[in-house]
Amino acid sequence: MAHPIHFVGAGPGDPELITVKGRRLLREAGLIVFAGSLVPERLLEDRAADAQIYNSASLTLAETHALLVRGYREGKRVVRLHTGDPSLYGAIREQMALLDSEGIPYKVVPGVSAVFAAAAALRQELTVPEMSQTVILTRMAGRTPVPERERLRSLASHGATLVIYLSVQQIESVIAEAASGYSPETPVAVAYRVGWPDELLVEGTLADIVAKVNEAGIKRQAIVMIGRVFGRGGPRDARQSKLYDESFSHGFREAKPRS
Ligand SMILES: C[S@@+](CC[C@H](N)C(=O)[O-])C[C@H]1O[C@@H](n2cnc3c(N)ncnc32)[C@H](O)[C@@H]1O
Repeated sequence: MAHPIHFVGAGPGDPELITVKGRRLLREAGLIVFAGSLVPERLLEDRAADAQIYNSASLTLAETHALLVRGYREGKRVVRLHTGDPSLYGAIREQMALLDSEGIPYKVVPGVSAVFAAAAALRQELTVPEMSQTVILTRMAGRTPVPERERLRSLASHGATLVIYLSVQQIESVIAEAASGYSPETPVAVAYRVGWPDELLVEGTLADIVAKVNEAGIKRQAIVMIGRVFGRGGPRDARQSKLYDESFSHGFREAKPRS
């Protein structure tokens, strides 16, 4: 019986940050194609003894597709392992389109994206009442262009929590574009290889983060996070959500009467 191919999110690097389902699928897989640069090899140690594994880093789309199809047609359980969550900068759409064109079934298992691993490592909430209730996930244009209407300069005008993937190598431009929407003292955090043994968290402001990132030598595999929610001035302020506010009723709890 043929099994659907599974696109699986590996999480950010810590081998324990894969879903239970993803880990089971990896254990059961007969053929695994993994995105080499940011998928921890330790995740692959737990595979079946006869599982075939391929690093996609040096392969083309046609080559990875051929591997997936071959495994599927041989009746193997096939896993395509992607870093973080496959739906973000994972290039899965083009792979799914090829599978669609051949009528090959597939499923997607989500993963912990770098944004959530970084928020956890920084012990920060991305959405804080009256500061920001919106998170924008984006990137700077590189060899992959970004639509003009999504330029960082215009996204910055919202003043929301801004998370920028794939762009730390252009940190000067990131900060220059962001400066149109955020004041120089706005907190900025840069998270390098979160969940890996060499994880590095650099915190500063719009005014000084470029120097700090350059000093730390971070040039890739990091995300840049900008916004007031990343502030740490002294004890955290006690801004509270409505959810646990005792004067606020919702479907699971009546407000306490005022005394
Ligand atoms: C091709 S994208 C893949 C993103 C991935 N699908 C995700 O959900 O995290 C690679 C970029 O994600 C970010 N990234 C992925 N893993 C990371 C990690 N462990 N620490 C920091 N940034 C990471 C970096 O911006 C990196 O350049």
